[in-house]
Amino acid sequence: MFRIIPQKNNVAAEINCDLNKLTSYELKQIKSALNNYGLVYFRKQKLSSKSYLNFAKKFGVPANYPRLKGLNSKYPKITVVERKASDKGPSFGEQFHTDSSYTKKPPRFTMLLSKLVPARGIANTEFSSQYLAFKNLPIKIKKKLKNLKAIFSSAGPISVTRLDRENEKGKDNKELKANHKIIRKINKKFTIYCSPGHFKKFLSNNKKYNKELKKFLFKQQVKKKFQYSLEWEKNQLAIWDNRSMLHQATPFKGTRIMHRITIQ
Ligand SMILES: [Fe+2]
Repeated sequence: MFRIIPQKNNVAAEINCDLNKLTSYELKQIKSALNNYGLVYFRKQKLSSKSYLNFAKKFGVPANYPRLKGLNSKYPKITVVERKASDKGPSFGEQFHTDSSYTKKPPRFTMLLSKLVPARGIANTEFSSQYLAFKNLPIKIKKKLKNLKAIFSSAGPISVTRLDRENEKGKDNKELKANHKIIRKINKKFTIYCSPGHFKKFLSNNKKYNKELKKFLFKQQVKKKFQYSLEWEKNQLAIWDNRSMLHQATPFKGTRIMHRITIQ
């Protein structure tokens, strides 16, 4: 039976349904829940790569991820995020970020489908709602941020893990950079668009002020009351709004394989 179950802090919703037999009414409800909660997920979904990609296309155009290779020549838009039990060091994405913020047009949505995961609860993905982070900002900070832009880079603080991966896969390590407005309106709601994992600097000359503002903003963005920690099990699909949710992988030891699609 189709059911939407809001989670802690109203930051996510679990949706019970069969994505292989989705009705247009259900799809509409899913899109509306995604807008309301920023993150929705579905457990126990047996999806082929073809159905996974078809589901993704209902939300927009699957994007090329500039940094990772595709699953195979038939499915270049599905990328594989894998961690092996023998891997040392941090996992991919182990710091709060939004995907591809160093590109001019970052993807609107990111999807992950779990193929192989350790025991439930030990390899979570944590999310932080930037709708809530913005809503709870003091008015004077909202005003300060209103027209401020920042530069984001693929060689930002999170890149240690990704550079490792690129070396493995033999892709070039050219730095990508883009600047974006910090405050954006998404689906008629204001949100903070600032990826700590890729942050370089604000486009403003006041150094002392910038340092203080950055410290305040980063702390605000990831307060526990704006967060939800998603537990994975096999064959689970999650989709989130990449412009209004920060996410990070939690450290774990074990093997995990996820199939990822980003959507423009
Ligand atoms: Fe990510």
